[in-house]
Amino acid sequence: MDKTIRAASVRGTVRVPGDKSISHRALMFGALAQGVSRARNVADSADCGATRRIVEALGARVRDAAPGELEIEGPGLAGLSEPADVLDAANSGTTTRLMAGILASRPFYSVLTGDASLRARPMARVVEPLARMGATFLGRDGGRLLPLTVRGGPLQAIDYRLPVASAQLKSAILLAGLGATGTTRVREPAPSRDHTERMLRYLGAPVRYAEGAAEIEGGAPLRPFDLDVPGDVSSAAFFLAAALLAPESLLTLPGVGANATRTGALDALRAMGGDVAATAEETDGPEPVATLTARSSPLRGTEIGGALIPRLLDELPLLALVATQARGRTTVRDAAELRVKESDRIATTAGELRKLGADIVETPDGFIVEGPTRLRGARCRSHGDHRIAMMLAVAGLIADDETTIEDAACVEVSFPGFFDALQLVMA
Ligand code: S3P
Repeated sequence: MDKTIRAASVRGTVRVPGDKSISHRALMFGALAQGVSRARNVADSADCGATRRIVEALGARVRDAAPGELEIEGPGLAGLSEPADVLDAANSGTTTRLMAGILASRPFYSVLTGDASLRARPMARVVEPLARMGATFLGRDGGRLLPLTVRGGPLQAIDYRLPVASAQLKSAILLAGLGATGTTRVREPAPSRDHTERMLRYLGAPVRYAEGAAEIEGGAPLRPFDLDVPGDVSSAAFFLAAALLAPESLLTLPGVGANATRTGALDALRAMGGDVAATAEETDGPEPVATLTARSSPLRGTEIGGALIPRLLDELPLLALVATQARGRTTVRDAAELRVKESDRIATTAGELRKLGADIVETPDGFIVEGPTRLRGARCRSHGDHRIAMMLAVAGLIADDETTIEDAACVEVSFPGFFDALQLVMA
């Protein structure tokens, strides 16, 4: 599907879908908690659909109780059963890596696979620690690539230092730790999103965590839960950027997750001079929630690197676009992980933005953008990557003439209805 966008201002209120990371965890933890859990505002995206089908294949019952509300009847970790077929995670790295952690302690055989993009993404990072704990994996390229067969078994706790700040990897090890004997400890080079730790605590698991380290004792049951999934701040970011960049714009986004391990893009946009405000909302769930507002702002270049990177990793293609409109140079470094996402996001971001006239060069671990440059509409490609497609749509709002995004249907991976939501606020 091609999508064409023309220049416009954006005004009004947008409700973004439920957080993708938290929705995955709601489905998985619902399966691991024995009994009936409820989750509202679960993302109805392709990625979370893959997680739903996989937990169902392992014996969980998931029912649509009301629009946007799921009832999950979990067999509990010990009650999961051997799936009858291959488990297809589609485009979802989070599904694959977290499920690998869950399956590692289960005494049965299973196979994880996914689409062409996922089958090219690195899995050795999860296989290595989980195998050290006692699970057996076989996969292509010596166990580095999907499809991956898992034969779980009795696991021993591990004390592990992550080679990269990755919440997917950290979560996989903590989930394996839940089914292991002893206390599993994970240390990370910089704090990554802590949704797994928060959720485990919310469900009564013996978990302790602080910035950059988490530990869990194996063997404890999880209790069923009732959860409101906050709006996805990564989806909200596209609208915040649109409001900052397009003239005479003002957007309000209520009910957005405001977990500090996820809101690095808000900090970066403010450092660039962006008028972005967050007002805390009341919640009794495990995650902070806020109403966000953003309005058109003159922007300046900035430096993005170090511990900020895991806090805005998914927003870097979008921040590259924002930087094309900022006065001066923006440098992004320490973000080599972008090369192993749904696409090589350093190459795809730079390549597509250059088609629109941006001054952006790739570096091995980031990019350098000089601004401001006037963007002109062109034919662009999503490379099958949802975040590249949405970034290009925002670019289309501020480019001359029209911008056409080829293969735009991939927005469904995290934000079904993205183009309709955008259309509604375009003035
Ligand atoms: C996610 C973690 C991040 C992020 C992905 C979702 C998660 O990946 O890019 O979109 O839900 O844990 P890494 O932790 O592997 O960097």
